[in-house]
Amino acid sequence: MTIGSQQDIDGLKAIGKIVAMTISEMKRQTRVGMTTKELDHIGGELLHKHGAVPAPKTTYNFPGHTCISVNHEVAHGIPGDRIIQPGDLINIDVSAELGGYYADAGHSFPLSPYEPSLVRLCQHTHHTMMKVISSLRHGVKLNEVGRMIEHEAHQGGYHVIRNLCSHGIGKSLHEAPQEILPVYNKHDKRVLKEGMVITIEPFLSTGAEFVVEQPDGWTLRVPDNSFVAQHEHTIIITKDQPIIVTAA
Ligand code: CO
Ligand code: CO
Repeated sequence: MTIGSQQDIDGLKAIGKIVAMTISEMKRQTRVGMTTKELDHIGGELLHKHGAVPAPKTTYNFPGHTCISVNHEVAHGIPGDRIIQPGDLINIDVSAELGGYYADAGHSFPLSPYEPSLVRLCQHTHHTMMKVISSLRHGVKLNEVGRMIEHEAHQGGYHVIRNLCSHGIGKSLHEAPQEILPVYNKHDKRVLKEGMVITIEPFLSTGAEFVVEQPDGWTLRVPDNSFVAQHEHTIIITKDQPIIVTAA
């Protein structure tokens, strides 16, 4: 969507805050020995308590309130009987709607005992997301997103998952501008405009460059044993620094 009024900004900020709080509370309550379904239940209850509706469920009939992907799973992991283990790499991705406005955010983190390479992967992916966000404003070409993600990934010694994109959001979960590639595409002539609402969500990898859908029809995982981290914010483009609506 493109922002048309202060009401639009306030509406996005309201759901953005709930999404951010849900992720940080789920992270805080993540424990070894619990199932991903139990963790998802915590997220579902929090969204419900604030009047927010889980977007993957209402939009795509996803079997869960939130997406929880563990280790070599990268995105759209279905909460289930999987038991969280020491040292696991966890990704929680929450998207939800309130009053007709949608926000989407994601966060990867390792569990104790911390594997230094996973800590560094998560930190560098977060750094990449923030670097991209702080470079965007009215008039910047959309393909700068991919150019910068690729550049920052390589600076850190990582690869980019090429078939997972950032996207427009606001009045629905996925809307125009669609397919904001995580790699440079010289043919993309689109330009960012003041008021545009988009996500920025780099997926950086220690090896693989694409994810494969699993037989459950949802879970996306790497075809090998590499690790991937994702961080995601929903932002509003302005003439200056973007507004991060999913900031905690
Ligand atoms: Co997301
Ligand atoms: Co997203």
